[in-house]
Amino acid sequence: MPERNIVLITAATGNAGPHAAAHLLEAGARVRALVLPDDPNAGRLPEGVEIHHGDLGDPDSLDAALEGVDGVFLMWPFFSLPVDTAPAVLKKIEATARRVAFVSSVGVHIGLEPVDNNCHAYIEHLLERTSLEWTFLRMTGFHCNAMAFAEQIRNGDVVRYPYGAATRTPVHESDLAAVGAEALTSDGHGRKKYLVSGPEELSQAAQVRIIGEVTGRDLRWQDIPRDAARQAMVDSGWPAAYVDGSLDYFEALSKEPEASSNVVEEVTGRPARTFRSWVVEHVDAFR
Ligand SMILES: NC(=O)c1ccc[n+]([C@@H]2O[C@H](COP(=O)([O-])OP(=O)(O)OC[C@H]3O[C@@H](n4cnc5c(N)ncnc54)[C@H](OP(=O)(O)O)[C@@H]3O)[C@@H](O)[C@H]2O)c1
Repeated sequence: MPERNIVLITAATGNAGPHAAAHLLEAGARVRALVLPDDPNAGRLPEGVEIHHGDLGDPDSLDAALEGVDGVFLMWPFFSLPVDTAPAVLKKIEATARRVAFVSSVGVHIGLEPVDNNCHAYIEHLLERTSLEWTFLRMTGFHCNAMAFAEQIRNGDVVRYPYGAATRTPVHESDLAAVGAEALTSDGHGRKKYLVSGPEELSQAAQVRIIGEVTGRDLRWQDIPRDAARQAMVDSGWPAAYVDGSLDYFEALSKEPEASSNVVEEVTGRPARTFRSWVVEHVDAFR
């Protein structure tokens, strides 16, 4: 690892950021987290992380956080922030850093996300045009997406959504973070486009069954019509185009399982964690 290995994590207090911080600290990096000034979740970051206040929507606010940085664990909070400022943010990163690990999506890997979608594919496109040593972590679904089932499970034994047969290869947030930390602290990962998946194919209904086994309950899945789910998702604030895209994807996954890889083990030397292990860690959320 180079002497000046300072790594900045963006979107640091989300689901993956605290894990990224833990793995980077373990690898011996000096870790900074870019955190919005009034972020109530800053306490989720492990001890030893230097907090820098800044906003990805205001590129000049990143100057202090980026000073002397060697690597950036880049995540873009697509749900809450448009990508208008991404070109300026990447220019600032390119001016100081050598490496970027960007958390992208399986959607790019399988050609579902076009570059003009203003999402992961667009940021990959921008990074490819920089002099940075970039590594793309094209994620399948995070294990924590199963938190979407938690409220229904706390209130009853049936989870109602469309496409229970949709089969994903979900990945533990800590595993994706470990791959990114490795890419930023060791050689040989530049210009790699990694598909990062978990170790098993699991339908949505199977995920609910596993939550039932861990909590000692007889939980069941019940498919509901797509239109009803779409309306509920749009009413709760999800962008309509995103809702349609993800429902199309789940319909496709009902016929053919999601892509998978052995990247976690190949890059970290440790087997990828199972969904069951994630449920055990988060069992209280389902009680
Ligand atoms: N979930 C999946 O299955 C999946 C699959 C593929 C790819 N991904 C990608 O994985 C990445 C990480 O996801 P995640 O769930 O860990 O995090 P996330 O929900 O995308 O990001 C949330 C984080 O971003 C921060 N944030 C919001 N607006 C900001 C701004 N203007 N400037 C700086 N920070 C801001 C939030 O702070 P506050 O807490 O203060 O709001 C929070 O720390 C995302 O880019 C996502 O697209 C996820």
